[in-house]
Amino acid sequence: MDGITLRRAPLLCTLLLWAFQVSSGALTVNVLPLVNVAKDGAATLPCSYTGTESSTVLVSWHVLHEGARKRIAFKSGEEIKSDDASPLGKRATMGADLSLTISKVEPSDDLTFICEINAGPDGYREAPCDLREIPIQAPELQKPAAQAISATSDDSSEIGTCISKNGIPQPRLIWFKNDQPIPEVKDKSKKTHMVAVVVKESSNLYTVKSTLYMAPKKEDKNSVFSCKVEYSTLHNTKEMKTSNTITINLNYPSEKTTFSLLNSSPIKEGDKVEMKCETDGHPQPQFEFSKDNKEVIGEKGLLTLKSVKRTDAGEYVCKGIDYDAFDKDLSAKLTLMVHYMDPVVVKPPGMKTVSLGEKMEWKCDVNASAKHTLHWKKGSETLSEDGKLSLDNIDYDKAGEYICEGAVPSVPGLKVNASVHLSVEGKPIIAEPDVGEVSKEGDQVTLKCVAHGEPKPQFTWVPSAKESVQIKGNMIVSTIVLNATADIMKHGVNCTVNNKFGKDSKTLTVAIKDERAIKGSAEVLLSGNPVLKSADMQQGGSSAVVVAVVVCVLLLLLLVGLIYCLNKRTKLPCSKKDKKDMALGDVNNDIVVEMKTGKTEQDGLLHKKAAEK
Ligand SMILES: *[C@@H]1O[C@H](CO)[C@@H](O)[C@H](O)[C@H]1NC(C)=O
Ligand SMILES: *[C@@H]1O[C@H](CO)[C@@H](O)[C@H](O)[C@H]1NC(C)=O
Ligand SMILES: *[C@@H]1O[C@H](CO)[C@@H](O)[C@H](O)[C@H]1NC(C)=O
Ligand SMILES: *[C@@H]1O[C@H](CO)[C@@H](O)[C@H](O)[C@H]1NC(C)=O
Repeated sequence: MDGITLRRAPLLCTLLLWAFQVSSGALTVNVLPLVNVAKDGAATLPCSYTGTESSTVLVSWHVLHEGARKRIAFKSGEEIKSDDASPLGKRATMGADLSLTISKVEPSDDLTFICEINAGPDGYREAPCDLREIPIQAPELQKPAAQAISATSDDSSEIGTCISKNGIPQPRLIWFKNDQPIPEVKDKSKKTHMVAVVVKESSNLYTVKSTLYMAPKKEDKNSVFSCKVEYSTLHNTKEMKTSNTITINLNYPSEKTTFSLLNSSPIKEGDKVEMKCETDGHPQPQFEFSKDNKEVIGEKGLLTLKSVKRTDAGEYVCKGIDYDAFDKDLSAKLTLMVHYMDPVVVKPPGMKTVSLGEKMEWKCDVNASAKHTLHWKKGSETLSEDGKLSLDNIDYDKAGEYICEGAVPSVPGLKVNASVHLSVEGKPIIAEPDVGEVSKEGDQVTLKCVAHGEPKPQFTWVPSAKESVQIKGNMIVSTIVLNATADIMKHGVNCTVNNKFGKDSKTLTVAIKDERAIKGSAEVLLSGNPVLKSADMQQGGSSAVVVAVVVCVLLLLLLVGLIYCLNKRTKLPCSKKDKKDMALGDVNNDIVVEMKTGKTEQDGLLHKKAAEK
């Protein structure tokens, strides 16, 4: 089928020119370029001609089959004959009207047939015709231009018209409501019925129309209508094509009104509030809104309050005005709750200055529309949850801003806060200083003296040097750079701070950056504490490992020596000889040699005494 379609692609382009003609001069031949298969499985391909009065015209039908053109039948004068060699055999017959009829059409019959006219001196013409499936278009469903249908009326109204164009053979239209077929009723006295119109176009194709009439009720307000066209195919199966869908424009009276809040979370002051009023009728009536018997202006059933205040809380009434249902009460009520929170009141308010070591207490309170919490905070740390903040033995670290935050947990976003500022005054205090370090005596050293104090203290350095003062948070930092003289190395540098409340003084020491870090680390390792004191000792650290390994090896040697000695002693006295061995051997380690000699000398003495006795 596809192959055939491809081969005849140029032909398909002429689809729009439905009944086309091949003409030259006077002689003309007319065929249908495409012909569909009828329900009974037969297809008729018409052919006619004009332009000659000759009585000896030879009309013949041919088929393009497997690349070759073969004659099927011909009419010469009154004589009609079929060709025995026709690929369609006896299924193809030519009629007196020149048409070719093919019975029991098979899918393999979708071939090109050619009607040929040979009018002798008047000329020769031919025209092709394709036997194939004409794709039927989906039907179109149109709504009537009429007004809305009233559900209260008992008369039938037009619901819509279903139109299927250019079908052959004549297709059938089926109506559907909510995907359920509506049985066909032609009796116009019935409430639900259809009126059908069939038009046979000049192209021999059919256009069918069906108009549905019903008396819909309120239940039909959301019903979806559609129609389908049913047709048979070359393969003798039935196929359906579905139209667009329509709903009906139905009017039905209101019976009940609902008034609801569109906001999803609890309402607080400042929020935008939307209240929706609607009825179960169609169309929606007009609405009037009121609160405390005073009119409030809404729009089309929607009442909007841009930024609510607590005074906006209360009962709202919405009333539907339906002129068709005056007897019905179409009003509804809605109670609006507006949450609020007053400003937080802190006592005592504002800035507060206290002396070092004293205590201080604040209270905060708030009025709110619902159960609320009160939290005292400093930074992100919560200090109390009952509205009371007590600070004892106040030090400089307690200075700063404290915030009392009130919140209504049941109303997201409803929060208020107030803050107080605490200043702490008193004598200055110097923080524990770091040790200054130099590579060697005489090098420059940087010393920092860090102090708290309010009012800000003065710094005095002994020996003095050019200082620079910085404020870091609630600390004051004085920095000096000087040469580490022998005196400084010995006594350090004194930093003194003072303000009107008193003074504090600390001696900052300066040390040589530990060149003996290696030895120090080894000691640390030996004493079983692997912690290295500073980054400078990192390098010393690896050397320390080497030293530790050497020491361990020596200790091991000592142990082996001892065992050897003890073993020997069971046979021979292990004295002079041992000593000699040791003297000849390694004397790298003082400790080992000394320990050994000490012991052997003692042994020697004991042996001597024993010998004397
Ligand atoms: C709370 O409201 C009461 C009564 O209106 C008032 O007396 C009180 O001062 C208010 N408290 C605060 C913290 O606003
Ligand atoms: C306190 O309230 C103000 C204004 O309401 C707000 O901008 C601020 O972020 C709040 N502070 C805290 C710590 O919640
Ligand atoms: C510090 O020592 C350097 C030499 O190392 C010297 O040039 C400089 O004058 C000394 N500074 C003071 C303040 O003594
Ligand atoms: C530093 O102060 C101590 C007492 O705190 C004092 O003995 C020492 O002499 C002072 N050193 C200098 C260099 O003034």
